[in-house]
Amino acid sequence: MFSKEVYVNRRARLLQLMGNDGVVLFLGNSEASCNYPSNTYRFRQDSTFRYFFGLEDPDFAAVIDLESGNETVFGNDVTMDDIIWMGPQPTVAEKASSVGVSCSKPFSDLGKVLSDALKSGRRIHFLPPYRSVNKILLNELLGIPFAEMKAGASEKLIKACVSLREIKEECEIAEIDHACNIGYAMHMTVMRMAKLGMREQELVGVMEGISISEGLMPSFPIILSQRGETLHNHNHNLDLEDGRMLLIDAGAEANSGYASDFTRTFPSSGKFTQRQKDIYTIVATANQLGVDMSAPGLTYREVHLACSKVLAQGLINLGLMKGNADDAVAAGAHALFMPHGLGHQMGLDVHDMEDYGENFVGYDDKISRSSQFGLASLRMGKELRPGHVVTVEPGCYFIPALIEKWKSEGTCRDFINFDRLKDFYDFGGIRIEDDILITQSGARLLGNRRLPNTPDSVKEAMNR
Ligand code: GLY
Ligand code: MN
Repeated sequence: MFSKEVYVNRRARLLQLMGNDGVVLFLGNSEASCNYPSNTYRFRQDSTFRYFFGLEDPDFAAVIDLESGNETVFGNDVTMDDIIWMGPQPTVAEKASSVGVSCSKPFSDLGKVLSDALKSGRRIHFLPPYRSVNKILLNELLGIPFAEMKAGASEKLIKACVSLREIKEECEIAEIDHACNIGYAMHMTVMRMAKLGMREQELVGVMEGISISEGLMPSFPIILSQRGETLHNHNHNLDLEDGRMLLIDAGAEANSGYASDFTRTFPSSGKFTQRQKDIYTIVATANQLGVDMSAPGLTYREVHLACSKVLAQGLINLGLMKGNADDAVAAGAHALFMPHGLGHQMGLDVHDMEDYGENFVGYDDKISRSSQFGLASLRMGKELRPGHVVTVEPGCYFIPALIEKWKSEGTCRDFINFDRLKDFYDFGGIRIEDDILITQSGARLLGNRRLPNTPDSVKEAMNR
């Protein structure tokens, strides 16, 4: 938790942005049951609640009255039963006071406060709920049908939250650097220990262990697979096999809730074949360009397209694509090999604020999402500003089913040498991902050290 002033200041700025129309409702998260009611998943607070109120416990809500500026935290003090099983806790009033909120009430008072506001014709601003329990709660509190909750969420509140959360404060940047350092340790440890014959799952366990020993948990379910052409592969059931590449996309969530997100790909044996080196070098060059050119004033779509041209040109040089790289990228032909975007914002969520709706976070009045295959998956397209934190994660994948589809349809046939691709059906995929902070003049890598990003440095890290 940051100092009280951080939260007081954030709420004061929110108040300025929201004007004085209505009340704002924030719902924290509750425990989520796994296989029976009291056997719960690791608790994760709602990021918006944590951002404005700093409280890390379940079953809290808060209301800000935009007219009076009054803030109230709702929650229940622990009972003797709770103390026996869970230990003593500060009171709700003490917790609220620790983040600069002077008024607290039992959770059961929330309904009356909101129904009084509704009866007076006041607008209740809320964010799109993403957990079923909070959807049920919103339905009970405000009478909104489930199907209308997303549309009924307050665009004004979403935009205000994005504008605050997307520009990271110094204290947040320090925490993201810390999460990146944990992520570095996770990746370096398994890069060093990977050996042929080992099971992928073993490496996943080691990475999770590091994330938990130094932070809260992985920032998302670890992607670790020799079938890296499946972008988010969560199967870890293969043994490390000679000739294959292992793609690992994993990050840490620090105790403060801030995330990191790195991807590295390396040969399971530690030794690159020429073909693997060729593709790796193209992806690494695109990744480096993304880091080097990102700067305030450029849109991230421009950075995405520049990196896409590196990919297209590299594949033209190898004879897998043909024609002119500019034309190929304009036609979206490179998306056969990289059907995803260059990156996304990162902060308290690894895909920061994605619960608000991706377009509110990655796009704005000046730039809207493309519908072209590949580019449509770019999560962050808008202009970069100092304080933005984004991932730079180009990739190159050989997805047999997609290649076969394009081939049979003749999609982008002027730019793809389909006949050459058959040899790559067992290649898998390569992605290289770093996290950067946009500064006043450019960008800097987050974390103290950069993970190996050349065939030579990967080989050295693997000690082969
Ligand atoms: N690292 C997973 C993703 O960005 O989707
Ligand atoms: Mn990512």
